[in-house]
Amino acid sequence: MTVDTLAIIGAGAMGRGIIEVAAVNGLNVDVFEINNDQATAAAERIERSIAKGIQRGKIDLNEPADASSRVNWHSELKSAVAAAQFVIEAVPEQEELKIGIFQQLDNLCADGVILASNTSSVSITRLAAATTRPQQVVGMHFFNPVPVMSPVEIVKGLQTSQETLDATTELAERIGKQAFTVDDAPGFAVNRILMPLINEAVFALHEGVADAKTIDSLMKLGCNHPMGPLELADFVGLDVCLSILRLLHRELGDPKFRPCPLLVRTVNAGRLGRKTGAGFYDY
Ligand code: 3HC
Repeated sequence: MTVDTLAIIGAGAMGRGIIEVAAVNGLNVDVFEINNDQATAAAERIERSIAKGIQRGKIDLNEPADASSRVNWHSELKSAVAAAQFVIEAVPEQEELKIGIFQQLDNLCADGVILASNTSSVSITRLAAATTRPQQVVGMHFFNPVPVMSPVEIVKGLQTSQETLDATTELAERIGKQAFTVDDAPGFAVNRILMPLINEAVFALHEGVADAKTIDSLMKLGCNHPMGPLELADFVGLDVCLSILRLLHRELGDPKFRPCPLLVRTVNAGRLGRKTGAGFYDY
């Protein structure tokens, strides 16, 4: 199945990035964003990001409108998915919200349309079970910032069909990504490994092993990571890190995933990282 028309649900940081790479790579994109201000801000940021990419020679187009004119914005879900051959959901990480959207998508979309979620933590098997098409529900876990990071975890739920996995892989490659299929286990592959690393850095800070800057500098220089773990946690969002750690702890039952009390306290203080202007660092 060659996908020409993609619907994207939600234009937050991840949705915005997916819209950009899809439009730049020639797909028609219908976006549903419930918040009009967020939709306007996202459209402007996508335009600026594409302009920057063209200027730096990273995007092979003459002007941003060559891509952004392929994006149509909708304030109703029904119109956004009317022509869709494939849907990617990228709304906030709340299981009830995602389940509700999957039920609506299942009602609105034609038979055969694949429903993908960009979730980093909700079980694809559970999302699929809320629909009448569990074989056509799949995870597509992108990484932030989407235009820069090449991989996508293609997450296979218990009932996801091979046809769905093949079509999802083809779509990921078409929009310039490298697809890696993983099982629907808590945290999939990357967050299962990344979040304990971030958590351990927070424990090191909590226990006074070193200050935040020293921990990050050592990890950047000593392990050749582009960002230190605390800086990366601020970038991803401390609330997101905490909720993934809680999920790993709950679902896998292993104490090694216990969130550091300092991470919990920092989130309780409303310091969620870059998006709130403060986390382990001030911005
Ligand atoms: N959109 C498009 N391009 C961007 C960008 C964005 N939002 N942010 C940075 N870039 C581009 C820049 O234009 C630049 O391109 P160039 O090489 O042509 O000049 C390149 O990326 C490097 O950017 P900068 O020089 O401005 O800054 P850095 O060298 O510090 O790189 C970074 C920024 C790419 C974000 C780098 O620090 C990095 O790779 N950090 C780690 C990010 C990471 O680990 N992400 C995964 C998080 S986990 C996740 O998302 C899963 C979730 O479920 C939690």
